[in-house]
Amino acid sequence: MSSSNFKKAIEVTAVPKGAMRSIMIGGKEIMVVNVGGNLYALDNKCTHMGGPLAKGKLDGFVVTCPWHGSQFDVRTGTIKRGPAQKTQPTHAVKVEDGTIFVEMK
Ligand code: FES
Repeated sequence: MSSSNFKKAIEVTAVPKGAMRSIMIGGKEIMVVNVGGNLYALDNKCTHMGGPLAKGKLDGFVVTCPWHGSQFDVRTGTIKRGPAQKTQPTHAVKVEDGTIFVEMK
């Protein structure tokens, strides 16, 4: 994995435990989420019809899309409940000097 693909996303302090934030990185909407102090990043637009996941609900590791209720595991993007049929793309995350960086492929 090349570290050069990591893009600056948001300050760590802006994503407290239980928070979901959407950020534009290189023209793409990314959601950064904090579950119990661990950070994960996914595409923010739901694979179903583009709903904004960061505006949905977080329950443990599962985010529920606000539009039609699809559920994804934020660690892997795996579908826990439809109507979505495609895994939600995920991105690697790292923290340096209090800033979250997200890997863009
Ligand atoms: S857009 Fe997310 S469930 Fe339909």
